[in-house]
Amino acid sequence: MFDLIALLADGDFHSGSDLGSKLGISRAAIWKRIQRVTEELGITVQSVPGKGYRLAQPIQMLCKGTIQYSAPTLPVFVFNSIDSTNEQAKRLLPTCNAPLVVFAEHQTQGKGRRGREWVSPFAQNLYLSFVWPVTAGLNQIDGLSLVVGLAVLKSIKRVSGIEAQLKWPNDVLIDGRKVAGILLELLGDPAELCHVVIGIGVNINMLDSSDAIDQDWTSLIKEVGERIDRVAFAQMILEELDLYLEKQKKYGFSSMRAEWLAYSAWQGRSVQLQMGNNSVQGQVLGVGDKGEICLLVDGEERKYLGGEISLRLQHDS
Ligand code: BTN
Repeated sequence: MFDLIALLADGDFHSGSDLGSKLGISRAAIWKRIQRVTEELGITVQSVPGKGYRLAQPIQMLCKGTIQYSAPTLPVFVFNSIDSTNEQAKRLLPTCNAPLVVFAEHQTQGKGRRGREWVSPFAQNLYLSFVWPVTAGLNQIDGLSLVVGLAVLKSIKRVSGIEAQLKWPNDVLIDGRKVAGILLELLGDPAELCHVVIGIGVNINMLDSSDAIDQDWTSLIKEVGERIDRVAFAQMILEELDLYLEKQKKYGFSSMRAEWLAYSAWQGRSVQLQMGNNSVQGQVLGVGDKGEICLLVDGEERKYLGGEISLRLQHDS
């Protein structure tokens, strides 16, 4: 099915017999594959008698060789369709030394934070997982999701010119709408060598979503009004991750704290912090050296940290 998509990717018409001879299958088999492309991946293929088939929208497939230019020594894996790049990265780890990176065109079980689904349509956005070895002690991961947010924000700026904002702990927003999310998973025994799987999803060329996304979202194409080069974005994100992770390993989050605060979406705003069934109301003062959120609660500063914490805006008075 993916070989057929690659032939149709240019958005031009291709006759059934031409496609059949290129793939070594009959015209009837091409028709069946076209149906699968629509049913399984939601891609619309137009069929015009006398002209053949073409995609309703041309698509740009990820090209491993081109992505690899920006990180020549990094093992880069590109999959057409998998459950989740985070899960695939974990499966690869026993056979491939980290760092490594996994990209996918489509995820059937893309994971978001706090058990949510990450909607992952084929060849529209970017879904990647970067596996980072923790070799400098566990404080190497203090504030890591905030640092990854900076790397994503910088890539967005480079590819689209848009200045995004960061919402603690790891959402990237444009004008209050979510454009990217980050999911970190720690693997292994913290007393020995462990790894962090850094999962990143960025909405790039997604214009609408048949699956309901239960939060206010946007994509780069919606913001700039034209398609974004996903391969160039993949290159940039690897470059930015390399820079920011190196800085994180050498100097820690505190060295990037001021930079993070400069992009903080909710600085000074009144928020509700949710931790499981408990919630606290306060005003955002900033973030601490370990990446904790600092709130003014009942007249005193309190710091909160943890994977299950989320923030919601209160109506500022
Ligand atoms: C969130 O904001 O809820 C985090 C979203 C993280 C999504 C990415 S897409 C690539 C990687 N693989 C997954 O299954 N999830 C992350």
